[in-house]
Amino acid sequence: MAAESGSDRRVDRPPAAEKSDAAPRPFAVERLTHHDINDICALYRRVWEEFRGKLPDDLIKAWEPTPLEFTSWMEGVTYFAARRDGKMIGAVGCELADGSCRIVHLGVDPDSRRQGVGTALTNAATEWARHNTCLSIWVDALTKFEAAVEVLRHLGFQDAGVLHKHYWSEDVRLLEKIL
Ligand SMILES: CC(C)(COP(=O)(O)OP(=O)(O)OC[C@H]1O[C@@H](n2cnc3c(N)ncnc32)[C@H](O)[C@@H]1OP(=O)(O)O)[C@@H](O)C(=O)NCCC(=O)NCCS
Repeated sequence: MAAESGSDRRVDRPPAAEKSDAAPRPFAVERLTHHDINDICALYRRVWEEFRGKLPDDLIKAWEPTPLEFTSWMEGVTYFAARRDGKMIGAVGCELADGSCRIVHLGVDPDSRRQGVGTALTNAATEWARHNTCLSIWVDALTKFEAAVEVLRHLGFQDAGVLHKHYWSEDVRLLEKIL
């Protein structure tokens, strides 16, 4: 997705200086459509698999939607997905309400982490928020999700408090960025 233009496509490539045989291949972030529902449901199963046994079962179940459940998630939420060589490797949702954008369901395939995918998805969400004249963007992330908090702080989000025992008894950190 191009910043400010409202276009739905964005291509991210590793910097030229980092290109080598081992460098990750480029990926693209695009707005999700109904054709992508099976892929995103499979992605979320891969994302949350590592947390099985570490988070409440009800929470994992709630975040691994069936295709039918995901169809209802799409009502009122705009999703963006990252793909590399055709495979979906990350996704994020943007829920606009009352002039603000909430980031939901950010997740990157375990095999594709630390390659800038989470950053690109969060940037796509931020661009979408700006495009829709939101004045702020915010996230509620479990305090356990240290990687997510690091990515968000890295992108200029600031801590806005903690909600205790908020989701299935888990503490949740609020982070916000004024646009
Ligand atoms: C959080 C998540 C989306 C991050 O995705 P990602 O593609 O790995 O993030 P990026 O590669 O864009 O990371 C950008 C920067 O954030 C920081 N960061 C990312 N992961 C980190 C980690 N595990 N530990 C410390 N810092 C981290 C680093 O500064 C990183 O830059 P670097 O790799 O050059 O050092 C991914 O770890 C994930 O899906 N986690 C499980 C699901 C989850 O927690 N979702 C968030 C719900 S709110």
